[in-house]
Amino acid sequence: MERPQCCYFLSLMLMFIVHYSQSMERKKDILAEKLLVLTVATQETDGFLRFMQSANYFNYTVKVLGMGEEWKGGDVGRSIGGGQKVRLLKEAMKGLADQEDLVVLSVDSYDLIFAGGPEEILRKFHQMNHKVVFAADGIIWPDTQLEEKYPTIRNGKRFLNSGGFIGNAPYIHTIVNQWDLHDNDDDQLFYTKIYLDPLQRERLNMTLDHKCEIFQNLNGAVDEVLLKFGTEQVRVRNTVFNSLPAVIHGNVNTKIYLNYLANYIPNAWNYERGCLICDQDMVDLSQLKEYPRVTVGVYIEQPTPFLPEFLERLQTLDYPKDKLAIFVHNSEVYHEKHIQKFWEENKDVFHSFKVVGPEENLNQREARNMGMDLCRKDLSCEYYFSIDADVMLTNRQTLKLLIEQNRKIIAPLVTRHGKLWSNFWGALSLDGYYARSEDYIDIVQGKRVGVWNIPFMAHIYLIKGQALRNELRERNVFVLEKLDPDMAMCRNARELTVQRERESPSPESFHMLRPPKGVFMYITNRHEFGRLISTANYNTSHYNNDLWQIFVNPLDWKEKYIHPNYTRIFTENLLEQPCTDVFWFPVFSEKACDELVEEMENYGTWSGGSHEDRRITGGYESVPTDDIHMKQIDYDKEWLHFIREFISPVTLKVFSGYYTKGYAVMNFVVKYTPGRQAYLRPHHDSSTFTINIALNNKGMDFQGGGCRFHRYNCSIESPRKGWSFMHPGRLTHLHEGLPTTSGTRYIAVSFIDP
Ligand SMILES: *[C@@H]1O[C@H](CO)[C@@H](O)[C@H](O)[C@H]1NC(C)=O
Ligand SMILES: *[C@@H]1O[C@H](CO)[C@@H](O)[C@H](O)[C@H]1NC(C)=O
Ligand SMILES: *[C@@H]1O[C@H](CO)[C@@H](O)[C@H](O)[C@H]1NC(C)=O
Ligand SMILES: *[C@@H]1O[C@H](CO)[C@@H](O)[C@H](O)[C@H]1NC(C)=O
Ligand SMILES: *[C@@H]1O[C@H](CO)[C@@H](O)[C@H](O)[C@H]1NC(C)=O
Repeated sequence: MERPQCCYFLSLMLMFIVHYSQSMERKKDILAEKLLVLTVATQETDGFLRFMQSANYFNYTVKVLGMGEEWKGGDVGRSIGGGQKVRLLKEAMKGLADQEDLVVLSVDSYDLIFAGGPEEILRKFHQMNHKVVFAADGIIWPDTQLEEKYPTIRNGKRFLNSGGFIGNAPYIHTIVNQWDLHDNDDDQLFYTKIYLDPLQRERLNMTLDHKCEIFQNLNGAVDEVLLKFGTEQVRVRNTVFNSLPAVIHGNVNTKIYLNYLANYIPNAWNYERGCLICDQDMVDLSQLKEYPRVTVGVYIEQPTPFLPEFLERLQTLDYPKDKLAIFVHNSEVYHEKHIQKFWEENKDVFHSFKVVGPEENLNQREARNMGMDLCRKDLSCEYYFSIDADVMLTNRQTLKLLIEQNRKIIAPLVTRHGKLWSNFWGALSLDGYYARSEDYIDIVQGKRVGVWNIPFMAHIYLIKGQALRNELRERNVFVLEKLDPDMAMCRNARELTVQRERESPSPESFHMLRPPKGVFMYITNRHEFGRLISTANYNTSHYNNDLWQIFVNPLDWKEKYIHPNYTRIFTENLLEQPCTDVFWFPVFSEKACDELVEEMENYGTWSGGSHEDRRITGGYESVPTDDIHMKQIDYDKEWLHFIREFISPVTLKVFSGYYTKGYAVMNFVVKYTPGRQAYLRPHHDSSTFTINIALNNKGMDFQGGGCRFHRYNCSIESPRKGWSFMHPGRLTHLHEGLPTTSGTRYIAVSFIDP
């Protein structure tokens, strides 16, 4: 049975080759399998869930220690502590002590994400040629006295940070097995002392990741790092060491910066493919038997333009009205008439409707707390939707879209029209106020579209009722030091409990893990939702004050006061010529006509149509009308602006080549009524051209009326409300106002370019 030598050798070779290639194949898997991530987390906070998402993305094997345990490790954000972590790790390592081929990676989780995968970490670890590698920090903590005991290094970060370390299991076991302190003793000090003991350092073959190959602590290092975009993954590059760290730790005060990085890393958003996580975990409203109940808190905290329009938009939200419980806080007597009207029209439409008016003297904080509390205390309230009166929601789907995005706190992006002003901040300054994040402008301008974790939002947001009853169960979230209510709310959401925050903060907060109550806040710009209007200098001393908003809120002014078919003049040539060179076009909305008439009647002092007129130079009017000048109601600046914005373009269209200066001295509203002045005798106007806008309806408001142009023997007897005539003033267009036979007719007239 003896085999020939050659064949025996050959088969040996073959066996070896087969075995070798199999082991090569398996090597990759084995390497990955041999890395075990251990982390301590006592609660499933948003930060923890984000950590797990990044770990799962890279297929790490993660063992979570301490979940559900009460946290006893002290307030490590403010002082020493964290011993509980070491105790839990010590217990976990007991069973792993003899696994020589196992590499253990211990990391924090609430404020940490992975930017690279397990194979990469193992490769880097092996390259470092040590048994244990700790993260390094440029800042020494907690005992600065220990500085001189640290080995000097030529280049890199010198001090130990225990937020992340990696090592062979027996060595990690030997380290943590030395722990015999209390849960609230300091873990970093414990590890530091072992590292600084030269004997232990050598015996345990320990080193630090001085050049951020694996671990990037962000504290003191924000300026070192940049996002590095790839087509699949986004990473952080450390520009000082030119490394691509795989573990990113937002220690101490860099949690907001970590949130910013995590809007991209590892696969949340990139330039090629946009948002890659936006459609994850969506709520499908169409699959629900019933729409969720929502408490809507409406806050009118200062005189606010366009409030009736705001309320109308609330009413036309695409959401079942019987699922909406409305709470209105109105602090302005001026707005009571608007609320009253809205209430009368809608009181039976909604699930409930509660108004707290100015007589109750609630300040903004109390009011916002009260509204939020209505949802918090009502277990059937699934969402709390807070909206301030300066938010013009143009997207009727807003509430549904926000619910579908399924976040504890989410705001829709709204901006001041044409401005960079918006309802969120992308970063905070050191003192907690506005700072501009690198991506702020791109988000506001919609160049980066997604759902973004941000540190501050205001004006409009949706909060889950469950979050109000858990993380935000503290009642007075709008009260914190002297902060604005929204800033207080956001800080309470970002940080820990209100009570803790009130203690004087220690600047020496150089540690990493406290069980944070922090709830992530998001802003979405995946859709257009609406805009913020300006409430600045809103003068409420007129009768219809929004008429004066043409400068401050031009877009809302236009939507309210310009005829809906106005733009069709230019797009579809919607313009008539009833008599030679008399052009006729829609310009004012119903509201513009009604409010202007109301404003004049409220002013009440009509001129009476006599020849003596002290309002004009010379004091004599040869063809007097019964009128009120725009100047008399302090509306001349606004009126001229209206002419330049909305009449000039029409002039250019019909009298091509004529550029009007849009200048006019005589701007007035005329009243024709049989009892006073019913008609106007034939005359020329002292203008290059004249506009004449009908402010009410023939047949409904008056009979008769109209205008006759003598040279062309042409009359227009059925003026249309909101439509304007435009005709040359001098020479060719001698005209008269035809008698109004009953009722009252109003027109607005301007003699342009006199
Ligand atoms: C994780 O594992 C899945 C399934 O094996 C695989 O499709 C995916 O590419 C892995 N992810 C990474 C980042 O390697
Ligand atoms: C540390 O361990 C590596 C092997 O993992 C070895 O090559 C190296 O010499 C050790 N260094 C020290 C200082 O013992
Ligand atoms: C508000 O309008 C009234 C009436 O036109 C005017 O007298 C007053 O000066 C205005 N107030 C402000 C603050 O502009
Ligand atoms: C605008 O034009 C359309 C089509 O001619 C018409 O049906 C509609 O009534 C007009 N709108 C107003 C407010 O006049
Ligand atoms: C003016 O037109 C009317 C009919 O539209 C006609 O009866 C009348 O004779 C005309 N007058 C002149 C002066 O042309």
